[in-house]
Amino acid sequence: MDSIEKAMSVRPRGPVRSPAPLPPPPVESPPAEDVVERVAHLTAASQDMAAAPASLKRTQRSVVMDFDRIRTSGFLAPDIKRSRLKEEYRQIKRPLLINADGRGAMTVEHPNLVMVTSAGPGEGKTFTACNLALSIASERNQTVLLVDADVLKPSIPRTLGFEAELGLVDYLVDDRLDLADVLVDTNVPSLTLLPAGTQYHLSTELLAGERMRKLAAEISGRYADRIVIFDSPPLLMTTEASILASLMGQVLVVVEAERTPQGQVKAALDLLDSNHQIVGLLLNKSHSFLGADSYGYRYGYGHDGNEDAAGR
Ligand SMILES: Nc1ncnc2c1ncn2[C@@H]1O[C@H](COP(=O)(O)OP(=O)(O)OP(=O)(O)O)[C@@H](O)[C@H]1O
Ligand SMILES: [Mg+2]
Repeated sequence: MDSIEKAMSVRPRGPVRSPAPLPPPPVESPPAEDVVERVAHLTAASQDMAAAPASLKRTQRSVVMDFDRIRTSGFLAPDIKRSRLKEEYRQIKRPLLINADGRGAMTVEHPNLVMVTSAGPGEGKTFTACNLALSIASERNQTVLLVDADVLKPSIPRTLGFEAELGLVDYLVDDRLDLADVLVDTNVPSLTLLPAGTQYHLSTELLAGERMRKLAAEISGRYADRIVIFDSPPLLMTTEASILASLMGQVLVVVEAERTPQGQVKAALDLLDSNHQIVGLLLNKSHSFLGADSYGYRYGYGHDGNEDAAGR
């Protein structure tokens, strides 16, 4: 019997099975040192927090965003090559990036901190903040931190398709937590998330507290080359939103076309300090710009009524 025959003779005679499913492709993991550092942080935090509620003991260190879901929800999926939305956000982000770089007409403190807000609810803050973050993250040499500061009504995890536990609120209530304990990496390497965190009845008050002020200054300095985008509560709904706005170098006020009353836009703008921060207006869901549902973008706002259109 030659070797081929021998091999045939020991073949099992049972039913032919389909091959076992392949294991999923390996998820790109961070460098080993990074993991060690993060585990060390987590271990230290969990030892310190032995008496803390169970919900404070778990978090995700990285998430895989579902690009298909992002795309089908009408958002700017990172793998999109060309689209009208992509082009619109290219125009929206340009002046923000110029200002963040200190190359704009006005120099402000913390120019890389950008708050996306609006007068009232449902005008497109989260839509704008997420698309802006995704758009900026697609730039070469540009990194973004997207903060869910709408702590009473967090919606970034649902929007981008991931689950979050620890976040901003946990960091603000527990000074044993380090910022690194609540940051979440994503499968877009240049995009990091800071989720809202545990629901807490006084969470909006926390946004106006000293620890939030220190955090804003720390993020701005520690990640000076990073754009930090805050999805925020509406300005006219909580006083804390305008206090949070005062920590930002740039504030983008989303106005829903044909819906936000002019008086409300003015009242919202009156809460901002346009002498010390750059205030932009974004007209969302407008039919009149570009001939379809779209965005109009006017940048800069003079309280004397003179709009200063620095970029469109
Ligand atoms: N330009 C747009 N084109 C299409 N859909 C949009 C646009 N802007 C917002 N939307 C949709 O409108 C709804 C409200 O938007 P979004 O959640 O961003 O508002 P919000 O200001 O964050 O609301 P809230 O105050 O409740 O946090 C969402 O379903 C969002 O996907
Ligand atoms: Mg929102």
